[in-house]
Amino acid sequence: MPKDPFQREIDYLRISVIDRCNLRCVYCMPLRGLSFVPGPELLTCAEIVTVVKAAAGLGFRKVRLTGGEPTLRADLLDIVSGIAGVEGIGDVGMTTNALLLPEMASALVGAGLKRINIHIDSLHPERLKRVMRFGHLDAMLAGLQAAEAAGLRPIKINCVVVRDYNDPDVVEMARLTIEREWHVRFIELMPLGGGTCAQLSLSQFVPSAESRRRIEASLGPLTPLPGGHPSDESRNYRLDGARGVVGFISPVSEPYCGACNRMRLTADGKFHLCLLHDDELDVKKALRNGGGEDDVRRILLEAVSMKPTGHDLDKGVSTEVRSMFQIGG
Ligand code: 5AD
Ligand code: SF4
Repeated sequence: MPKDPFQREIDYLRISVIDRCNLRCVYCMPLRGLSFVPGPELLTCAEIVTVVKAAAGLGFRKVRLTGGEPTLRADLLDIVSGIAGVEGIGDVGMTTNALLLPEMASALVGAGLKRINIHIDSLHPERLKRVMRFGHLDAMLAGLQAAEAAGLRPIKINCVVVRDYNDPDVVEMARLTIEREWHVRFIELMPLGGGTCAQLSLSQFVPSAESRRRIEASLGPLTPLPGGHPSDESRNYRLDGARGVVGFISPVSEPYCGACNRMRLTADGKFHLCLLHDDELDVKKALRNGGGEDDVRRILLEAVSMKPTGHDLDKGVSTEVRSMFQIGG
């Protein structure tokens, strides 16, 4: 398994398969002035599978597909089955806003998808619309149900907490874990991309400790769960008598860089060394110049060896170039 200079074992590849999205969350995508990677510049399914084979050869074990919104990619099922068929990859997951899951969930499971993270910021229809801008709560809940019916486990729900948009809604979201075996995770806003979304992420920031206090004030104590995998970025808790898990992902107030085990691949074929830094290594160029798995392996090892550790988010510093929808979360 490749280790970076900080002795972190890097075995998890997050692949953004497309940078487009059918939503426009206020902290992620501006309504105007967006430009997307043109189709021919996206890594093809075959190229993605080549990268995954190279990564598996180095000891990578886990893959997660992200976007933008991965379900907008027309050949998503081929990508999932291609990756699931790579020897050594035990785990293929996906992060999605669930809107298209009613049509796709069972086919995705058939193709080899195992785990799902569903992004829903509120259970209040109007507030959901205000923060995610085009989402319909009913459609997203239908997607959640489809994921559950298709057998995806565990079901993790991601909620990005945004002051004056959805910060009181953490209570209702956490309440879901009482009856359901779901993991509801509250994510601190990260200022990425340097534009208006980054500004909003700074000004509307809510620390996890505040969301936690709010939940405990309404629903009772949150008992810490014994630590899972050290690279799990979520600090996990359980409400008394609850079946599910409440988690807090706190990149700003409690950075977890020391346990980072990830490498990211952008939709346009660059290894992105860290969500919070701009450094990238181009792998598509090598592939389109006739390179194969060996060349990818060499570039990936170089990328691992360059992985930074630490960021200045607590000082309000964000990346300059890429936004979350371009990197894939
Ligand atoms: N800060 C924190 N999380 C974000 N996401 C998107 N933009 C941001 C941001 N600025 C989350 C989405 C999704 C995951 C891929 O990243 O909610 O769950
Ligand atoms: Fe789309 Fe996810 Fe960005 Fe929201 S956070 S606009 S769902 S990519």
